[in-house]
Amino acid sequence: IRATSSSYTDELVKTAKIIASPGRGILAIDESNATCGKRLASIGLDNTEENRQIYRQLLLTTPGLGEYISGAIMFEETLYQSTTDGKKFVDCLRDENIVPGIKVDKGLSPLPGSYNESWCQGLDGLASRSAEYYKQGARFAKWRTVVSIPCGPSALAVKEAAWGLARYAAISQDSGLVPIVEPEILLDGDHPIERTLDVAERVWSEVFYYLAQNNVMFEGILLKPSMVTPGAEYKEKASPETIAKFTLQMLRRRVPPAVAGIMFLSGGQSEVEATLNLNAMNQSPNPWHVSFSYARALQNSVLKTWKGRPWNVEAAQKALLARAKANSLAQLGRYSD
Ligand code: 13P
Repeated sequence: IRATSSSYTDELVKTAKIIASPGRGILAIDESNATCGKRLASIGLDNTEENRQIYRQLLLTTPGLGEYISGAIMFEETLYQSTTDGKKFVDCLRDENIVPGIKVDKGLSPLPGSYNESWCQGLDGLASRSAEYYKQGARFAKWRTVVSIPCGPSALAVKEAAWGLARYAAISQDSGLVPIVEPEILLDGDHPIERTLDVAERVWSEVFYYLAQNNVMFEGILLKPSMVTPGAEYKEKASPETIAKFTLQMLRRRVPPAVAGIMFLSGGQSEVEATLNLNAMNQSPNPWHVSFSYARALQNSVLKTWKGRPWNVEAAQKALLARAKANSLAQLGRYSD
């Protein structure tokens, strides 16, 4: 007996293709209220709903953003917000041909029985929440779980991460949302790049094993991997060419070409590093659309330029466009600094 497939199959494939379109990538602005508060604190602003709204308004109303950005991931609060003039954020995005997305996981909790590792919450009630998000205009979703190399990772933590991602992906597709599958392998640690490669291969093989068990349609998913780099505290930094070589090796070994797009996270790399590494990966043809889904590597300069002052909004939007354009060129393999 074959499993039933989502009634949204064609739409999912179409949505995934729009997000994975040439020269474009994802703007991740789905920081939880607590994390957004840290960003606001860095420029001396209080973590109020009003300040979160004006910051997200600055980002989402940047004129011409759709040339470089194909999708924007929002936190639940933002999905339901409007500009101060009353235009829904979702409509601002649609007018720029940017697909609205929603973070659906509920964050991390300690995983009993592991090496002080964590697991990702949010499956309870996910189907009904996803249906509501679809009604509000979301067409893709994100679920971020983490794997820590210094903590192990234990077989239990890897299995739990992979199973949670696969259940979430199946539920999202059933609700018409393209799932971004994100097992973030944290940069923390003093290990060499070979160790990261080994862990990444282990994680992705389990993720695809459980995605297949859950009858997830690969043409209708997007991946959000960490790049394969040495640990942040390793004695030497790796060049973009080395990072590209190891990361592509991992992808070739583990990711079927049916997958619509690979949208990397920046994971604490500087803005320019994240761009150079992506550019290096696009120097030769590969079977997927290899692009970006950056939060910090698209927002750092914006925050520094804006400083919470209304008269800096235009300059801050220009800073966002500059980073978005650089990453767009890197997606095409044509960036040079
Ligand atoms: P960074 O690009 O800042 O790592 O964030 C991406 C993201 O959305 C992590 O889930």
